[in-house]
Amino acid sequence: MRVVAVMNYKGGVGKTTLTANLGAVAASRGLRVLLLDLDPQTNLTFSFFSIDDWHDRLKDGRTIKQWYDSEMPGRDVALADLVVTPERVNKALKNPPGQLDLISSHLGLIDIDLELAARLGGTTTLDGSKRKFLDLHSCLRRALEDSHFGTYDLVLIDCAPNFGLVTKTAIVASERILVPAKADYLSTLGLDYLAGNCANLVQQFNDFVNHKRGAGDYRPIDPTFLGVVFTMVQIYSQQVTLAQHPYIEEARLNSQVPVLESKVRNSPRHFGDAGESGVPAMLRTSSKDEVVKEFDQLADEVLGELALTGGRP
Ligand SMILES: Nc1ncnc2c1ncn2[C@@H]1O[C@H](COP(=O)(O)OP(=O)(O)OP(=O)(O)O)[C@@H](O)[C@H]1O
Ligand SMILES: [Mg+2]
Repeated sequence: MRVVAVMNYKGGVGKTTLTANLGAVAASRGLRVLLLDLDPQTNLTFSFFSIDDWHDRLKDGRTIKQWYDSEMPGRDVALADLVVTPERVNKALKNPPGQLDLISSHLGLIDIDLELAARLGGTTTLDGSKRKFLDLHSCLRRALEDSHFGTYDLVLIDCAPNFGLVTKTAIVASERILVPAKADYLSTLGLDYLAGNCANLVQQFNDFVNHKRGAGDYRPIDPTFLGVVFTMVQIYSQQVTLAQHPYIEEARLNSQVPVLESKVRNSPRHFGDAGESGVPAMLRTSSKDEVVKEFDQLADEVLGELALTGGRP
């Protein structure tokens, strides 16, 4: 099982669209995929379930909010019990044993993030606060180690556009980090800042692990960047426009985060109606379509990096 956090604390850069479509394409290639929606905006969830369905079937007992919502996340509810299998997308998959499952989010997750952060401060001894830091930050990692999740090839975590505690639990749980970004000045400027913040978290976590060695079953973490995927890229005559090309080159040459070869072009026709049909655009469109071919290349590159190409039919 490979666990990948899809994150960028810049909002509206295509994280959720990428997560939904990449998950669906991987599942359509025969992989067993779990999507985890960690964003209180709940957009990934609504890409697969109608709002009515979510209200009737998920809202009150089957969202990640219920899991985070206890003194220690997961104490009252098992993560595995929150997994649901959205029907419409799974009907559209062609290659068994491909499957796309989801743990849905909840708008109330925003309050939980603040409460969790407050809980970090509630200890008086240095030792106690380090233990609390490690326990809280590694809660999702521990939960995903449950044997139930061993049946998945790939777990994709759609993070909120922030660096709050819930997002940090996703980074601690992940082996790789995928960073969707727009090709503009502020986005490329933000990449090194993002890399720095992730590195600080990893260092603090591992320092505490080393300090506590022998006193608990904490292990160091080493999440690495899978890379930046430029999204909503303006293509003209098969080329990236002159306005955006320099930002991609700048990131490729000077950013601390590697840049993937593949890109997702700007195409409101394909990606604009995210969610309404419950089946991501890349599964609804002919395989001869140019955007589908490009996205297929992205899936090849990402799944190849993760050594998951065995899923290709
Ligand atoms: N390649 C694309 N071409 C055109 N529109 C896109 C593309 N990717 C995403 N969009 C649209 O841009 C908007 C933002 O995309 P999305 O919700 O995936 O971003 P996000 O990074 O998850 O946002 P947030 O930070 O709020 O979670 C949505 O309306 C989506 O339909
Ligand atoms: Mg999103």
